[in-house]
Amino acid sequence: MNKGALALLVHGGTENWSPQRWKSRFDAVCEGRPVLLLPDASFDPAEVHYAAVWKPHPGELAAFPNLRVIFNLGAGVDALMADRSLPNVPLVRVAVTDLTARMTEYVVLHVLMHHRQEPYLRESQRAKRWAPKSQWAAGAVTVGIMGLGTLGADAADVLKRLGFRVAGWSRNPKTVDGIECFHGEQQFEAFLQRTDILVCLLPLTPETRHILNRPMFEKLNRKSPLGAPVLINAGRGGLQNEADILQCLDDGTLGGASLDVYATEPLPVDSPFWAHPRVVLTPHNAADTDPDEISKYVAHQIERFEAGGALENVVDRNRGY
Ligand code: NAP
Ligand code: GLV
Repeated sequence: MNKGALALLVHGGTENWSPQRWKSRFDAVCEGRPVLLLPDASFDPAEVHYAAVWKPHPGELAAFPNLRVIFNLGAGVDALMADRSLPNVPLVRVAVTDLTARMTEYVVLHVLMHHRQEPYLRESQRAKRWAPKSQWAAGAVTVGIMGLGTLGADAADVLKRLGFRVAGWSRNPKTVDGIECFHGEQQFEAFLQRTDILVCLLPLTPETRHILNRPMFEKLNRKSPLGAPVLINAGRGGLQNEADILQCLDDGTLGGASLDVYATEPLPVDSPFWAHPRVVLTPHNAADTDPDEISKYVAHQIERFEAGGALENVVDRNRGY
């Protein structure tokens, strides 16, 4: 019997989202299964049983009457949740050690950058100024992580081992050894009040949109050796109020920011973030999804599903993540 086809829809636009690269990796791991690279492949939509997607256009997935599972090729499913015609089949997201390790590298890199005064030191180098400022210990700084899921929990663990005090905030209560855990709206303020470096690894949902705003920045701790709190956002651009971030950087409410994600991507050339002296900017590449790893992850899930096993990392559509 022919295996049901896998349709590949990748609308990324950057090097790591090259549709041809994804197609060749899926061809290598989906033995005997047709892999259709859309939109160019010619096929009968009824042949498609699985879709592996990144930012599909709204309505694209509704074209397959026999779709069984949608595999999102990244961790965040906000683009899919915005599609009102999304077929009502299981939606699986990426949760693999490869992507988690990449995100932890990003978080550690940027926490250390602010903790070790890198923006100041680079500025000093450019000015040929020999003027070191006092250092402080990692244990003098609390990193507060919004989102203690697959990514947040791993970053928290590594930061803790580097000696930082670590707090985490999630929707549901959690107990994690060595991490001060907070949850829900009621404990949000207590979490913010002890946070010196705020790391956001939340998914974008109706509840979290624009959660990074002035009133919450004003609640962060201002008594740490850093002088003013720092924001690191690698979740989604829709989590942040960008006008508030800029104003808070300019009036000292925030001492610095590392931003990987933006309300509009690619970031428009006229965005003030590009040239802001207190912004460390990256182009949504905190944690790439690697085609080798993720094509294997999807192929294994399909094999297990067809053998009657359960899918892993299925999105709860009511929660939106
Ligand atoms: P996850 O495992 O689903 O974890 C999400 C965490 O956020 C959970 O701890 C969850 O709480 C918490 N959360 C969700 N809604 C909340 C709310 N309203 N209030 C408080 N906490 C809330 O997701 P993940 O794999 O860690 O990924 C997180 C996000 O990172 C993705 O959705 C994506 O947007 C982003 N991401 C970015 C990149 C990049 O390159 N920039 C790469 C990968 C992922 P509970 O534990 O209580 O459910
Ligand atoms: C990347 O942004 C992802 O969600 O995996």
